[in-house]
Amino acid sequence: MQLKLGLIGYPITHSLSPWIHRQFLDKTNSNGTYDLYEIKPEDFDVQIKEFLQSNLDGFNVTVPFKQKIIPYLDYLDRQADEIGAVNTVRKKNGKWVGYNTDGLGYVNSLQHHFPDFFKEKSKRIVILGAGGAARSIYFALNQFGFSTIDLANRTMERATSLLELKSEHTSTSILSIKETEEVVSHYDLVIQTTSVGMKPYPNNSIIQLDHVKQGSIFSDIVYQPIFTNFLQLAQQKGAQIHYGHTMLLYQAKLAFELWSNHKVPMEGLEDTLKNILE
Ligand code: ATR
Repeated sequence: MQLKLGLIGYPITHSLSPWIHRQFLDKTNSNGTYDLYEIKPEDFDVQIKEFLQSNLDGFNVTVPFKQKIIPYLDYLDRQADEIGAVNTVRKKNGKWVGYNTDGLGYVNSLQHHFPDFFKEKSKRIVILGAGGAARSIYFALNQFGFSTIDLANRTMERATSLLELKSEHTSTSILSIKETEEVVSHYDLVIQTTSVGMKPYPNNSIIQLDHVKQGSIFSDIVYQPIFTNFLQLAQQKGAQIHYGHTMLLYQAKLAFELWSNHKVPMEGLEDTLKNILE
């Protein structure tokens, strides 16, 4: 079988997805292609209709089309529907189905590195940021039954809007970034999802860290640079760190498995990608 795959978004010329999916094709001995299809936002309506007529088996969707794509699809999987965003589309029985693998991909990457964290659901978690990535991650962590998942964002109303995804087992407080800075040592997992600290401003961190809880995990979904200022500060204070490129790989793994029905062996990929990003 020849898989025809790709990515739509704008801009996408520097995307790592072709590299990742070509590795997956290789590792699963699959035949196929993964190409970039850049669509200008002003041309989206016309181009997406033509694109969906093509002979692709599946594709990824990135910024700024993760919400915009929804009305053009035939069905949505439950997670994509609840989150309200799609990052993966596959053709199933001639129909286009939308999925969201971002949140579960993030959680899978965390499970891979910190399996013990998942043994106790009373662990305290805070997510910094309330954009699309935070939304997917908040939803996925709720599904895993953690009892405390707090949200902190510069614009606090935006964090409040994520509460519609809260499960009945989870309690969530909305905090300001400043408040979080003061109580950050209460948390077992701190997840940084904002764009602060991303290239070209790698010296910034969304919060300053005076104390961190011993044994806690600090996770950044930013992967350019790979060793963000936030992760550097956390490591200096004695926290364990979780790198952003792992989410990128695990959300891609879930997408590829939907398209190909093959399990992807991940051995060596994280280190290779880390070396590319360093
Ligand atoms: P994504 O979909 O990648 O998560 P996004 O929807 O643009 O991206 O969200 C960006 C996040 O970074 C938001 O939480 C944003 O905070 P606001 O909701 O207040 O805008 C946060 N962010 C971006 N620049 C920031 C800055 N300079 N200071 C604090 N937060 C910032």
